[in-house]
Amino acid sequence: MDLLPGIATPRYQSGFGNEFCSEALPGALPAGRNSPQKAPYGLYAEQFSGTAFTVPRSEARRTWLYRIRPSALHPRFEPLARQLQGGPLGEPTPNRLRWDPLPLPVHATDFIDGWVAMAANADAHAPAGVSLYHYAANRDMTRVFYDADGELLVVPQQGRLRLLTELGVLDIEPLEIAVIPRGLKFSVLLLEGEARGYLAENHGAPLRLPDLGPIGSNGLANPRDFLAPVAHYQDAAGAVALVQKFMGRLWGCTLDHSPLDVVAWHGNNVPYKYDLRLFNTLGTVSFDHPDPSIFTVLTSPTSVHGMANMDFVIFPPRWMVAENTFRPPWFHRNLMNEYMGLIQGAYDAKAEGFVPGGASLHSCMSAHGPDAETCARATAAELAPTRIEQTMAFMFETSQVLRPSYHALECAQLQPRYDDCWASLPSTFNPNRRDA
Ligand SMILES: [Fe+2]
Repeated sequence: MDLLPGIATPRYQSGFGNEFCSEALPGALPAGRNSPQKAPYGLYAEQFSGTAFTVPRSEARRTWLYRIRPSALHPRFEPLARQLQGGPLGEPTPNRLRWDPLPLPVHATDFIDGWVAMAANADAHAPAGVSLYHYAANRDMTRVFYDADGELLVVPQQGRLRLLTELGVLDIEPLEIAVIPRGLKFSVLLLEGEARGYLAENHGAPLRLPDLGPIGSNGLANPRDFLAPVAHYQDAAGAVALVQKFMGRLWGCTLDHSPLDVVAWHGNNVPYKYDLRLFNTLGTVSFDHPDPSIFTVLTSPTSVHGMANMDFVIFPPRWMVAENTFRPPWFHRNLMNEYMGLIQGAYDAKAEGFVPGGASLHSCMSAHGPDAETCARATAAELAPTRIEQTMAFMFETSQVLRPSYHALECAQLQPRYDDCWASLPSTFNPNRRDA
């Protein structure tokens, strides 16, 4: 069965965490109650909740769906023969790791088959943590998928994607991201034939906008720039494979209808997209530079105030104007664990070796920072205002140590001599000359 053919341009509604409403048929949303005795048009009402019922209201996520057939209408799931790539987690390592880009697939590979596990800090049954993947695909999905293990943050690096979800259609391209709630059914079409990117599977609290503190009521990622889809349904009979990821494994069954059959919905547990180019980047206008938390787009909090299960942080094009300042990211050893990727261009802490589609992992307390070449250039630079152009690096930053997958530790893309980029940092210490 073709899944939702023929949409020229998806339509969106803007905001973050809103009580969105959308109906693909006029009057399909019942007035005044969520579950009337008879829903309009003979639809079934179904609640889709993304948080426990009794969390504080400000954190609650749920959406009411009005659909042609309830989701309960499915046969027994069986484990799939083909599971996700990447294998189990390997041994934790304190070493700094860096990878070249995942090659594009040679054989027919859809978005789900194209996941390659790279690192995780949670077992499948854990209530928090993240699992990180790279994806590379060259075929449209002809099946529908949902992830019972977590919310998905999709970061394309190459190739536009069309996400056909229960709540409507989202198109994303490199420099945009999408977030798909835990359990939401979706399928992925490749709008340019091939696609590659990064995925964070968030097992903890749903991603939200960070608090702004003294920044005030504007800045960083503004709520109105987040786009949710509008209702779009398919009323179609025919065999459709439904796949779920449950406790780390893929399970499948065959439906006799499209599960993308939601005619109307209201709620805040929704998929959404965001254009990273709209990020309001803040920084110093005097000296030094703020911690990279100033670049946080979305955060999944823990119960420890201010310590994230995962932050999604970007390093966008921006002006560098700091006076008498070492302008690249400084040398550091952090509590948090940093898994970085690059969407385009170059990252200002690395002269080479960190390329679009590649990744690096710097775990808790591992020492890192600019490579020797970048350090030498930054120390000698004339500090006129300069603009970092054509770049978009990002970081999945986590509070629990990430364990690389077996694949990540064994694959040909792992760079064996990553440590060498710091090896030629000289001692420039001179006890007799303070203004060296
Ligand atoms: Fe770092």
